[in-house]
Amino acid sequence: MKAHTISESVYCLHADIDTTDLFEGIWPIPYGVSLNSYVVKGEKTVLIDLVRDWTGAPKQLEEELAGIGIAFSDIDYLILNHLEPDHTGWLGEFMKLNPKAEIIATAKGVELVKSFYKISEGLRAVKTGDTLDLGAGRILHFIEAPNVHWPETMITWEPASGTLFTCDAFGSFGKLGDRVFDDQFDSAEHAFFEKESLRYYANIVSSFSVFVERAVKKLEGLAIKCVAPSHGLVWRRDPTKIIERYLRYARYMNGPAEKEIAIIWGSMYGNTRTGLDAVIKGIEEEGVPWSIHRVPNEDVSFVLADAFKSAGVVLAMPTYEYAMFPPMAYAIDIMRRKHVHGKTVLRIGSWGWVGGAKKEYEAAIADLKWTSLESKEWAGAPSQSDLAELEARGRELARAVKNA
Ligand code: FEO
Repeated sequence: MKAHTISESVYCLHADIDTTDLFEGIWPIPYGVSLNSYVVKGEKTVLIDLVRDWTGAPKQLEEELAGIGIAFSDIDYLILNHLEPDHTGWLGEFMKLNPKAEIIATAKGVELVKSFYKISEGLRAVKTGDTLDLGAGRILHFIEAPNVHWPETMITWEPASGTLFTCDAFGSFGKLGDRVFDDQFDSAEHAFFEKESLRYYANIVSSFSVFVERAVKKLEGLAIKCVAPSHGLVWRRDPTKIIERYLRYARYMNGPAEKEIAIIWGSMYGNTRTGLDAVIKGIEEEGVPWSIHRVPNEDVSFVLADAFKSAGVVLAMPTYEYAMFPPMAYAIDIMRRKHVHGKTVLRIGSWGWVGGAKKEYEAAIADLKWTSLESKEWAGAPSQSDLAELEARGRELARAVKNA
């Protein structure tokens, strides 16, 4: 692949990661992910964000740099907007190739360079308002954006080209191939990246939604012509689109979420599924869109994305050994950790010889700020009256979502 020109002397480089490895060791990336880096050239040359040694990413970076006549040893400054190792894992090797490069990060970022990579020289800490003059009219400005995604995160702004280098903020899963800019992808491809940006947000960023809103506030007044994140598309035709999308995601936490219902279910021998079908019938009678995920068959990464965006949630699970169905307990725990707040929720399920999920369930959701409809449990196979009641609960949930 080659470097892409954003503007004169401003380039996007990227490594596509295509792997069965899990992102952060947790999240599947069946459609890959890109690690984007950027070059800004004045009289001095800066590289913004690095890669980890993952499916040949350093080699890709080296080749793309060579395509614009730059070697690693030509880099004067390495800006690390964020220290998570997907963007810094190769730092030790880079510094061996170019020991004179100065590393620039926030004060907290500098501490992480020391702790992760045992590098203690050639470090410069910057804060909001600080600048770096590259000569030839190129001045970089730094804006701290803590907790988007880690506490040390910052955004780099280059006003001459109007480019905002945002690292994780405004990023997405999904590899890019030979194109990087939003105007190079058709509407079907944009629909794909919208899904993968939501999943990326729900998996990686959602816990920090309040900080996303604060970071976006700090960008007011900038004449942004290009949003250049370190994962996913580079937005030059419609840079505000991804910013507005992220704001919408951030606000799902406290509403309004989408008027949709995410159904998460598990069933041991089909009785809970039979009851769920009656709930779905009720939801469909009210015409509310729904998505459905079976646990543990589907990875919680995908469950989380639909639960995060939907105003309503159905949790359908059998009682398992006096407690919750274990894969559902895990899904709820992930939703708690990722701040899937403010949902209207219906819990249903079959029990065998005795119930018992209720106590554990209520403790698990205590911090989630959910509005719970009356739950419905039944012994063994659902009776006709159980099914009628479940259908009514489906209608009730759907009406609550419509009126949210
Ligand atoms: Fe792409 Fe939080 O690292």
